[in-house]
Amino acid sequence: MNFHVCTLFPEMIKQGCNTSILGRAMEKGLITIGTTDIRDFSTNKHMKVDDYPYGGGAGMVMQAEPVYACVEHVKKQLGGNARVLYMTPQGRTFSQDMAQELAKEENLIFLCGHYEGIDERVLEEVVTDYVSIGDYVLTGGELPAMVMIDAIARLVPDVLHNDVSADIETFYDNLLEYPQYSRPAVWHDKEVPAVLLSGHHKNIEAWRYEQSLERTKRWRPDLYEKHMEAHPPVIKKKRKKKKNNSENK
Ligand code: ADE
Repeated sequence: MNFHVCTLFPEMIKQGCNTSILGRAMEKGLITIGTTDIRDFSTNKHMKVDDYPYGGGAGMVMQAEPVYACVEHVKKQLGGNARVLYMTPQGRTFSQDMAQELAKEENLIFLCGHYEGIDERVLEEVVTDYVSIGDYVLTGGELPAMVMIDAIARLVPDVLHNDVSADIETFYDNLLEYPQYSRPAVWHDKEVPAVLLSGHHKNIEAWRYEQSLERTKRWRPDLYEKHMEAHPPVIKKKRKKKKNNSENK
């Protein structure tokens, strides 16, 4: 899968993405993360890409032409109709479901704004998805793009060592993840729950599910409700005693 970021700060993306799991995934050729500097498409002799907003107001606005030329250049490079995601607090809130949907794409282009935003006219022409990573305002779209790349890339097959771990973790089926423990079995007088040392896989699975349910109910009642809607508890009806046939005679 190929991620491509149009940004004024390519170094930020390169440095943020080339370590740990993403770095290894790139080395293995499972993903690519490319960057293109919007400033390279400036038509101004001082390489400026921003100007004052029409109508006045604080800050500067990124101009339409360099952004347009940059995105079109990347689209051509990728050779196809890649989705163009614009990072903005006004967008749809990013979620695990959205990550799963986007992980099916072959190419994704992230457009990162800075200052007071980007000229609306170019957004209308190039953007396919407006995405926010939460209800707070950051100084630019680079951190949101990195957050999204991280969440999407780990869903690409073989990026995670253990391919079941993406299935059993937080938000799978609207449940938070159960608690995890590792050696030593006793630490600061706290013992690892005995069931985890039992080797009884069915009991361990049941305990973990209980823990997930409990945590979700306590910390994310909104998710708990969704989970319970999809998995209503099975209520076992008491069987009625068969009537004695002789009574009907
Ligand atoms: N740019 C600035 N703030 C943002 C946010 N919360 N999400 C996405 N892009 C942004």
